Amino acid sequence: MSWIRASTLNWIQFLCVKIIKSGRVPKHIAFIMDGNRRYAQKNNVRKFEGHSQGFDKLAETLQWCLDLGIPEVTVYAFSIENFKRSQEEVDALMELSQQKFERLLSEKDKLMEHGVCIRVIGNLSLLPQNIRKLIAQAMILTKDNKKTFLNVAFAYTAREEMAQAVRTAVSGVERDALQLSDVTQQLLSNCLYTSTSPDPELLIRTSGEVRLSDYLLWQVSCSCIYFADVLWPEFSIWHLLAAIIKYQRSYAQLVPVQQADEMANGCLNERISLFHTCLAASRLASLEELNHAVA
Ligand code: FPP
Ligand code: MG
Repeated sequence: MSWIRASTLNWIQFLCVKIIKSGRVPKHIAFIMDGNRRYAQKNNVRKFEGHSQGFDKLAETLQWCLDLGIPEVTVYAFSIENFKRSQEEVDALMELSQQKFERLLSEKDKLMEHGVCIRVIGNLSLLPQNIRKLIAQAMILTKDNKKTFLNVAFAYTAREEMAQAVRTAVSGVERDALQLSDVTQQLLSNCLYTSTSPDPELLIRTSGEVRLSDYLLWQVSCSCIYFADVLWPEFSIWHLLAAIIKYQRSYAQLVPVQQADEMANGCLNERISLFHTCLAASRLASLEELNHAVA
């Protein structure tokens, strides 16, 4: 299935989307797409089929988010912990991802037409070379698109992300690009893989599991969290709308918490701004290098 689909809302769904859109809709939603293997077991199909239907559900969900006017989505596609699964399953997930990233690149015109910017967040060095190259190509191709943002957490865990952010800051201090007093909450935020994104306002996890599984731990401290008691391939627009209604009902309480969080972030001095500019340039250079490497 394609990453970018046409809208398929029926009239009642269209009407409900319109009503929900008249209230406040989150600008950024993060998803933990959990329950693919349980879905496979429940339906007597192979695990791979569960993951494949999980991808189809992702494409459908992205379209619902577009219908709702949500400009940014972040999805947990592969955790560093997932490398501990059987070799057969890891290989199958890598194969599926390779196919999907190839498909994404073949839909270049649609991506550009819709202004979709793709960002993959995670430790890319843990991935096979062919997938790294496809990811680099997709990110470079879409880097200037500004209408909608899809962040794919791949070979990602939040604690690894925080550890690399600390290493980045420490190396800045060691080469005198930063002073120790520059290492603040805001500096570390800007060293995360998600440095260019606002924090998600709503996090949705499916499958009935009630935990965060090392996902965006830094970024969701002020977010509304919604646990849906449904396996990911069974997720429907009604679950998404229910999560947004919960967000709308808790919005009044979220605002002061988010404002206090923003006020805790001080001003950036010139040295820190230069450090961030250099960091962004060096990340882009690494992608260019991956793009030109022989897969
Ligand atoms: C969690 O269900 C799902 C995953 C580990 C993989 C999710 C991946 C996709 C939906 C494909 C996305 C691909 C791209 C390229 C974006 P689980 O395996 O933990 O199932 P369980 O909780 O029932 O065991
Ligand atoms: Mg799971």
